[in-house]
Amino acid sequence: MSLLEDLEALRQRALGELEAARFLAEVEQVRIDYLGRKGQLTLLLRSMGQLPPEERPAAGKRANEVRAQLETAIARRQTELAAQEASSRLEEERLDVTLPGRHWRLGSRHPVEIVLEEARASLVGMGFEVLDGGPEVETFRYNFGMLNYPEDHPALDEQDTFYLSPEVLLRTQTSGMQVRTMESRQPPLKVAVPGRCYRREVVTATHSHTFHQVEGFQVDRNVTFGDLQGVLAQFARDLFGPDTKVRFRPDFFPFTEPSAEYAVTCTFCQGAGCRICKDSGWMELGGCGMIHPHVLAGVGYDTETWNGYAFGLGVDRIAQVRYGINDIRLLAENDMQFLEQF
Ligand code: DAH
Repeated sequence: MSLLEDLEALRQRALGELEAARFLAEVEQVRIDYLGRKGQLTLLLRSMGQLPPEERPAAGKRANEVRAQLETAIARRQTELAAQEASSRLEEERLDVTLPGRHWRLGSRHPVEIVLEEARASLVGMGFEVLDGGPEVETFRYNFGMLNYPEDHPALDEQDTFYLSPEVLLRTQTSGMQVRTMESRQPPLKVAVPGRCYRREVVTATHSHTFHQVEGFQVDRNVTFGDLQGVLAQFARDLFGPDTKVRFRPDFFPFTEPSAEYAVTCTFCQGAGCRICKDSGWMELGGCGMIHPHVLAGVGYDTETWNGYAFGLGVDRIAQVRYGINDIRLLAENDMQFLEQF
């Protein structure tokens, strides 16, 4: 009888496909193909109406048996595959907690940055407001003109630099930030500005075309050279230890009068003289002085009321001295073996 034969063929096909199914999604597809609303078994059952009435009960009974059998087989296959998928997922995502961890390579702080941070902390402790570095591409006006450098003055020769045009240059010092700050504010002022500077230098172990300074200055009523000395003495103790002594010797800068060179006792020999300080016992860290009245008047300050001091410190030099770095070029070479020591 053909319907029973069709049922049997359908049953075997369905069971074969279930056996072949590798994924739960394929099992679901088999279920839809055979038992779904338009599935093969469903359609076959619908066609039973065309059978002669006496054959219907036997065919109906067999069809229900096949349906039950397929449902059981589908459920079993689903369980099997679900277990397989779960265990292969577990296998794939296995985590070996005994493996050694991944090493995170931590960076280290650059010696110049360490010194800058300590300088900032020391100056903030003495009441200075620390400003952001200001422009490295500067005009002749701020780098020299407003700082009382007469044109063609020999002091310009020491500070040859890289010119972008006759008026625009890479700044040779942070001192221009004195003028920029004073122009935009009114006294009293107590300000420090760290920043990068440039000069046209032949690069050697002690000179570089790129370096860093910290500028500091105070403008107020009745500021004295003693105030300046006190600040720089405290700065020396903060950075190099409580026994550090300072020395001021006359010097010349166009924007200060009087001007002085600032030195501290050598941190290696405590002033006795050694290789690092070239037997002098002292290390020169920068320049300073009382701000020249021309500079104050240039920004419109009343020089009868206001006066001030200023200083500029060489940061790379401090780092060199602090860490005994014998070649300043190392500070800019990005040599990991060198940098990782700090
Ligand atoms: N800018 C000077 C230089 O680079 C250092 C300096 C000297 C800064 C005296 C000052 C100062 O503020 O008052 O050589």
